[in-house]
Amino acid sequence: TNFNWYPGHMTKAKRQMQEDIKLIDLVVELVDARLPQSSRNPDIDELGKNKFRLILMNKNDLADPKATEGWTRYFEEKGYAVVCLDARSKNYMNQIHNVIMDVCKEKIERDRKRGIKNRPVRAMVVGIPNVGKSTFINSFAGKAVAKTGNKPGVTKGKQWIRLNKNVELLDTPGILWPKFEDQTVGLRLALVGSINDDILNIDELAMELIRYLKANYPGALAARYDIEEENEDAQVLLAIAKQRNCIKNGGELDYAKAAILVLDEFRSGKLGRISLEMA
Ligand code: G4P
Repeated sequence: TNFNWYPGHMTKAKRQMQEDIKLIDLVVELVDARLPQSSRNPDIDELGKNKFRLILMNKNDLADPKATEGWTRYFEEKGYAVVCLDARSKNYMNQIHNVIMDVCKEKIERDRKRGIKNRPVRAMVVGIPNVGKSTFINSFAGKAVAKTGNKPGVTKGKQWIRLNKNVELLDTPGILWPKFEDQTVGLRLALVGSINDDILNIDELAMELIRYLKANYPGALAARYDIEEENEDAQVLLAIAKQRNCIKNGGELDYAKAAILVLDEFRSGKLGRISLEMA
């Protein structure tokens, strides 16, 4: 999903979130499991204070299991409930439902004691662009779901997706913004393809990826492209261009094409399960 990042837009998104958050019990925050720090905005802790919290580490199919384990522990120690998933699959949705019930059991118990029946837990999905919010809402809601429409006391136009008698989800996710001020955040989001504003040109971006992989996942490039990865970064890109026949009309090597190729293959998991940040 594309989103334009100018201050007015961000202010509006934040104001909307402040309004929506009043309506809910639980914040379901999605992060990208490959970069759980850079793909979140800690402003949500202030916005979502006094709410139940669940962190979904999404795109876990692409992330390094070891890194994910470390991040799970990191977030759990901070008191968040955590589930790792691939939002495109429905397989995780029962587990997530159970965790939501568990996280909110205090409220459910309180309601029960007061004799309040049938008041479902209300949840809202939040996250920066491209972490998989829409994908998750679709998978979680499934097909059989009826939108409940407006309710008394609820801002006009709000749609709640009724998941079952226990849980309702706001149908529009809250959009958080990345921490642009931090250059490494921008670089990492660019590497996974989550910001299209070129903060670097494509060759430089591919070179950053090559540098990172050589240092942290030695052998990944060599195995995929059948090349010597110990060479200089530019030499590695050149070797990939040769191996993959990235050649311009005039016959010279096409670096840009090789750069896009290696970035695409990284982003789609063809270089293996790779994380860009460790806890
Ligand atoms: P957003 O609402 O938070 O902005 O994210 P959205 O659901 O649009 O998902 C962004 C992209 O991430 C989508 O691909 C989606 O298919 C993909 N995606 C979401 N969850 C997962 C996951 O757990 N694993 C993997 N591997 N991918 C996931 P896209 O590139 O926008 O679409 P397309 O290229 O598939 O057309």
